[in-house]
Amino acid sequence: STTTFKLNTGATISAVGLGTWQSTNENEGYEAVIAALKAGYRHIDTAAIYGNEGQVGKAINDSGVPREEIFVTTKLWSTQHHDPAAGLNDSLKRLGLDYVDLYLMHWPVTLNPRSIKDGNFLSIPLLPDGKRDVEIDTWDYVKTWELMQELPKTGKTRAVGVSNFSINNLKKVLSSPGNKVVPAVNQVEIHPLLPQEELLEWCHSKGILLEAYSPLGSTNAPILTEPVLINLAKKHGVQTAQIVISWHVQRGYIVLPKSVHAERIQANFKTLKLSDEEMREINNISKEKGERRIVQPHWEPFVPFV
Ligand code: A2P
Repeated sequence: STTTFKLNTGATISAVGLGTWQSTNENEGYEAVIAALKAGYRHIDTAAIYGNEGQVGKAINDSGVPREEIFVTTKLWSTQHHDPAAGLNDSLKRLGLDYVDLYLMHWPVTLNPRSIKDGNFLSIPLLPDGKRDVEIDTWDYVKTWELMQELPKTGKTRAVGVSNFSINNLKKVLSSPGNKVVPAVNQVEIHPLLPQEELLEWCHSKGILLEAYSPLGSTNAPILTEPVLINLAKKHGVQTAQIVISWHVQRGYIVLPKSVHAERIQANFKTLKLSDEEMREINNISKEKGERRIVQPHWEPFVPFV
């Protein structure tokens, strides 16, 4: 898809980007990014916690595609909320890049960095009872945002945004006295079983572009078993994933399908125009079956998405 959207910074972003969560083993992240750039993708999404920034950055540098043609996103891990500038520097070092196009707060949740071992900021601190060591009383993610909004001035990221934010989380950020910058995007789970209609409307009314992660339902792509989607794919002679990805793009936000298979990566980039009736059929899936979140985070005692 050559469809693009505009961020509230004025920057242009490709509607279809490559997702790289769980593309980590062997050289999966590297090969996936090389395949994607060959297939015409110009938008790659990674994160510090994915553990593949090294592979992803190397592929970008090896690809022969000029850096300025590629939109690169990475994300601040929750143990570095006290110092996002350091988190960004660490990511750039692993990526082997001078700047990213977009830097996101991965979660509105701060994990206690005191329990980090051997300087590994990517660990997920656990308390002896198995719960996450979440800093609820001592650090507020609004402070993290206030630090992040200064980062574009350094030139190390062109824009900043958030991920996994509810409307309430965003209202808290936007109404804080120290807030100067409206997040460019909010990256959340979206697919036909979790269409996020209210969040979509609210974010877009504020100039915050949504980005869909796990757009096929994540591991094993459970969304692709929906009969409505399979039938539409047969009718158009395309893969079921292409129907879902086209539905996302047509709703007006970024979609980040993940694959480590070149032929799927190629197919996922080829969107088609769905009719209003076809869009309605897909919209009806969650109305009939009920909505379902597939990626279940556990941040006890913090409850996300409220
Ligand atoms: P794989 O990486 O082995 O190709 P999501 O984008 O929702 O996170 O979905 C990722 C899942 O969907 C992965 O299991 C991925 O498997 C699979 N997937 C990606 N593209 C396709 C496709 N075109 N057809 C079938 N499965 C796909």
